[in-house]
Amino acid sequence: MPMTVILGVQWGDEGKGKITDMLAAEADVVARFGGGDNAGHTVTVGAERFALHLIPSGILYPRVACLLGAGMVVNPKSLLAEMEGLRARGVDVSPKRLKLGARAHLILPYHLALDGAAEVARGGSALGTTKRGIGPAYTDKAARKGIRACELLHPPGVLEARIREEVEASNQLLEGVYGQEPLDAGAVVKDFLEHAAKLAPHVADVSEAVFEALRSRKRILAEGAQGLLLDLDFGTYPFVTSSHPTTGGVLTGLGIGPQYIERVVGVVKAYQTRVGAGPMPTELTGPLGDALRGTGAQPWDEFGTTTGRPRRCGWLDGVTLRYGLRVNGLTEMAITKLDVLSRFDSLQVAVAYEVDGERIETFPADVEVLARCRPVYETLPGWRVDISDARTFRDLPAEAQRYVSFLEDLLGIPASIISVGPGRDQTIRQ
Ligand code: GDP
Ligand code: IMO
Ligand code: MG
Repeated sequence: MPMTVILGVQWGDEGKGKITDMLAAEADVVARFGGGDNAGHTVTVGAERFALHLIPSGILYPRVACLLGAGMVVNPKSLLAEMEGLRARGVDVSPKRLKLGARAHLILPYHLALDGAAEVARGGSALGTTKRGIGPAYTDKAARKGIRACELLHPPGVLEARIREEVEASNQLLEGVYGQEPLDAGAVVKDFLEHAAKLAPHVADVSEAVFEALRSRKRILAEGAQGLLLDLDFGTYPFVTSSHPTTGGVLTGLGIGPQYIERVVGVVKAYQTRVGAGPMPTELTGPLGDALRGTGAQPWDEFGTTTGRPRRCGWLDGVTLRYGLRVNGLTEMAITKLDVLSRFDSLQVAVAYEVDGERIETFPADVEVLARCRPVYETLPGWRVDISDARTFRDLPAEAQRYVSFLEDLLGIPASIISVGPGRDQTIRQ
């Protein structure tokens, strides 16, 4: 059976966790293909909320196997903590159903220390990373010195020597370049060996597992983390993450061919948000932005799942959506948080930018140019009624229907899913 890909097409936090969990009801396998615990995916089941960082958002269905692909960077300590949290809530996280890709790279304490130190060194031009060691871990991968999950199976003595070598090399950077305290290699080794023993049974060839599942006609979801505008190549470089949250990233991150991908669902939050630094043409810094963000009283208000930071908010940016359509080959969209827009009398959607006296409709490569772009808006009517109980398209007020149709026309693909609340059932499918 073919694969469905679920991707964020903004700056992350589009609601991928909710959409993945919902679609996982009809799936056999959910696989993450990139990123690490910089991701924070929220799944709401009745009154219960689950914040997932590394474990795929299919874990709540006992039938579903959950895989962590080669494109990921995995912090063993975070993974074990997340597993423990789920186990305590009665979720099965045994090696039978939770598999860690042998080729995935591992995040160690020195990656976190280097991430923090690099941010401090950047001063006023800090990227605003999640400080989870993501950049340094992918740097080590590209430099061909990273430690991979398959090494968790190596004898403790071999692992110890390997870790000591890497801690010492990192300490040179931490002390010599950044003027920070060095790490205690012995303590890092001790923790790592404990983590290795616990995680070793989970290590598996995820590419093979996905291929086998495809061959036995199982239904597979590839769950994206982050979003297109954080992609290392296509995002707002350098204000990006270090992975590829795109359709291309699915192929390299899981190790499969393109012919299995049938659907590419772009998760589109009904407005724009961003955490961290970098240009955001439709950002609203006044009361409208505050109204989008909410006060934090609701669990879905715009404060980061991973770091708790307030998210920058603004009107939906159609230029970035068209860009997402092109780069990812989206076949459909899942529009989320439409209910949040019920707070406004009228709504705006950017359909082009104006820069240096010119109108452009394509997303610029250069952040210096993007920073000078001013959005050209279309104004649409708001609806000002609670839509969180809508379950069919016809239950939506005419203005909300119009907003959805406007986006379908803009991208030329259907909105097959419309989400009007965090709950599983607060969803319109068409
Ligand atoms: P992800 O990183 O893409 O999985 O998104 P996050 O979980 O970081 O952020 C999305 C937030 O919005 C979470 O708190 C979700 O529970 C919530 N959410 C998802 N869909 C909806 C929706 O349609 N309406 C509302 N009000 N909240 C939603
Ligand atoms: P999910 O999967 C929102 C952002 C960070 C920062 C930049 C680089 O929940 O959508 P990093 O720690 O990756 O080196 O930080 O990327 N970022 C996210 N923003 N949602 C995410 O994940 C993110 N993952 C990384 O805020 O701007
Ligand atoms: Mg998130």
